[in-house]
Amino acid sequence: MSGGAVLITGAAGFIGSHLAEALLRQGRDVVGLDNFDAFYARNIKQRNLDAIQEATASIAGAGAFTLVEGDIRRPGDMMQLFASVEPVSVIHLAARAGVRPSIAQPGLYAEVNVTGTVNLLEAARKTKSVDRFVMASSSSVYGNRSQVPFCEADPVSEPISPYAATKRACELIGHTYHHLYGLPVACLRFFTVFGPRQRPDLAIARFIELMERNESIPMFGDGSTSRDYTYIDDIIAGVIAAHDRIVGHGYRIWNLGGRHPVTLHEMIQAIGSAVGKAPRIEQLAMQPGDVERTCADTQRSAKELGFAPQVPFAEGVARQVAVARADREAASAI
Ligand SMILES: NC(=O)c1ccc[n+]([C@@H]2O[C@H](COP(=O)([O-])OP(=O)(O)OC[C@H]3O[C@@H](n4cnc5c(N)ncnc54)[C@H](O)[C@@H]3O)[C@@H](O)[C@H]2O)c1
Repeated sequence: MSGGAVLITGAAGFIGSHLAEALLRQGRDVVGLDNFDAFYARNIKQRNLDAIQEATASIAGAGAFTLVEGDIRRPGDMMQLFASVEPVSVIHLAARAGVRPSIAQPGLYAEVNVTGTVNLLEAARKTKSVDRFVMASSSSVYGNRSQVPFCEADPVSEPISPYAATKRACELIGHTYHHLYGLPVACLRFFTVFGPRQRPDLAIARFIELMERNESIPMFGDGSTSRDYTYIDDIIAGVIAAHDRIVGHGYRIWNLGGRHPVTLHEMIQAIGSAVGKAPRIEQLAMQPGDVERTCADTQRSAKELGFAPQVPFAEGVARQVAVARADREAASAI
């Protein structure tokens, strides 16, 4: 296939499709792997892939993109894929995401997130061309810490959802592969990512949709929980910097967070302003597995990756609303 390419797992997803687009714009070849997992609709993922194509088709010198449909749970398929693609590096984003559904299906989350990651690390260390491995972790590994901001050196042995536990397990197994085989491994703790193409299960995407339809917003808790939202372009800049710099570090965990936590109540009001409607809120009980707050200490990623988030929350929400509206109008015109 295409020797010299970066292999992105989960390339049809929210973050993966933006990452593929960014690398292609820089002239790097990309092989994307995805199994179009049923967590959300295939046609949304197909739209993400179409967007990559549209954004890069007219750019002179853009890299080449190939999408391979495959499942990271199949070790034999992964070995075959690595042997035929001979990627230079792996950026592993494929996962079952979502805290709440992981409580209902812990076995599935362990299989996809942990076994799938082990399969990829095995294939990577056996494939000579691969010189680095970057993986998506999550702010959820910090559990319900009350001390903020969350720092990479903080203890993370008390995850409160199966999803968070699988992400921490991946960080640990990543260290093992670095130790045993010298493979440079970067683990990136993403703090709630938002922006165009956001996963439809995530609150901002859902709330935009509900407000556009004049429906009420389910607010879990009293609105005081907070999240350190991170705009997708800022995340992508951090992922690429980590990819390009991990070799000098060996094994490293980096927080990638927006640095300005927003309460749930503020988030709902910001969406209301962007949509141009006063939100109708329906208050419900807090959900098990949800943490009270997230807040990233980004000193390490700022120093070592030059990570410096640029997009303020309200601006990012306005962009997400604008793209969601354009998509809805395009869909209704068909
Ligand atoms: N979006 C966030 O706020 C956020 C926060 C923290 C961590 N993360 C992590 O970042 C990564 C990307 O998240 P996202 O929001 O883009 O999710 P996403 O669901 O949009 O993308 C994940 C992609 O992985 C694919 N996939 C799932 N199971 C697979 C399998 N068995 N084999 C091959 N492909 C498979 C899915 O089809 C999907 O396209 C995930 O690892 C997630 O846990 C995301």
